[in-house]
Amino acid sequence: MEKSKLLYVDDEEINLSNFRIAFRDDFQVLTALSGADALDVFAENPDTAIIVVDQKMAGISGVELLTALHEIDPVPIRIILTAYSDVGDIIEAINRGRIYEYILKPWNETELRASLKKAEEKFLLFKENAGLMAELKEKNKELLKTNQRLLDEITKQQKMEKELFAKQLELAHAGRLSSLGEMASGMAHEIHQPLTVIQLAAEGVRTSPVFGDDPLLMESVSDIIAQVRRAEKIIKNVRSFARSDLGSLQMIDPCLPLANSLSFFREQFRANGIELREELAAGLPRIRTDLHKFEQIVVNFLSNARYAVSRRVGENPDCKPQVRARVFQDSGDMIVVEIKDNGTGMVPEVKERCLEPFFTTKEVGEGTGLGLSIAHGIARELGMKLEFASEPGRGSVFRLLISL
Ligand SMILES: Nc1ncnc2c1ncn2[C@@H]1O[C@H](COP(=O)(O)OP(=O)(O)OP(=O)(O)O)[C@@H](O)[C@H]1O
Ligand SMILES: [Mg+2]
Repeated sequence: MEKSKLLYVDDEEINLSNFRIAFRDDFQVLTALSGADALDVFAENPDTAIIVVDQKMAGISGVELLTALHEIDPVPIRIILTAYSDVGDIIEAINRGRIYEYILKPWNETELRASLKKAEEKFLLFKENAGLMAELKEKNKELLKTNQRLLDEITKQQKMEKELFAKQLELAHAGRLSSLGEMASGMAHEIHQPLTVIQLAAEGVRTSPVFGDDPLLMESVSDIIAQVRRAEKIIKNVRSFARSDLGSLQMIDPCLPLANSLSFFREQFRANGIELREELAAGLPRIRTDLHKFEQIVVNFLSNARYAVSRRVGENPDCKPQVRARVFQDSGDMIVVEIKDNGTGMVPEVKERCLEPFFTTKEVGEGTGLGLSIAHGIARELGMKLEFASEPGRGSVFRLLISL
């Protein structure tokens, strides 16, 4: 093993050479004749293990020098050589941790060697400790990094699982929609035939002279005809729900479908005391779409809003029914068609299911529960996104998002 470096500082040359001769077999002895010298030698040998300093030197005391060296580097073991008389301030320095040991002069070679060996051991132990600490720190750092990587991995995995789950839900939903759609359109087709026959027969009864003009009979026949018409309407809805072909695509102003639909609703709203606010932005970029299908979505939104506000007024006559219809371009590349109402709003269970085909909260015979599921299907076909928000007792907002 390489010998440890030992720096001996004394302002008498003779002491330096005696020391060198006594300990050169045990240490790599470096010497300095003054405090300034000692600082230079130490700067050149930062790996010095032990520093031994004579307390009585010209210009600087041993304690002062060791204090200065301690400030530069606290690691080397510092020992002071002294006569009895100046022990007071040395003890203080020892207590403040700047000096490891003091040795009385004149020193005895065997004792001093033993002390120096002990100091060397302490230094080596300290160094080993420091090395282990550094290793530990490094290992800790690696552990932290691994931990972070693991966390990132878990977060990524969770995100993927969530996406997968959402996809599965979407697929299940699409699957259910398409099988329901097929069944529904099959049934609609089958029912259409007998309905036509019933309607023709009822018309026949109404116009036949055989039955005369018996008011009771005529009323019943009118009822039959009205109900058949209603059933036909439902069938038309079901068929349009099941159909997935796109009609003709054309470039249109994105306000047009809402403008067309409003012309149909405006009078109804007014007659029912529903305040209608129209905010259709001008000069929006034109979009390529199927006008008729687009209108179908908007009509559904408006009709649901009308129903929701009327019902709210039914529950709370103080409520002023309002519907706001808007088309605007949001800050991104997105056109938004929005119908907002202050109607009944939806409780969480309804919110969750309102896009499902045949789900309705209307009275039996009042609604098919197909409006929104058709709208949802069409929006998907047209590459648009349908979203909504709703709070029971406050109202709902339905939006169609169109990416430019
Ligand atoms: N604006 C709205 N405010 C409150 N509830 C709504 C609103 N729009 C839809 N809903 C709820 O969602 C349900 C489903 O709506 P959807 O349009 O699919 O069918 P429907 O309106 O009940 O029947 P139809 O459209 O055939 O008249 C409604 O019954 C209602 O409970
Ligand atoms: Mg509806």
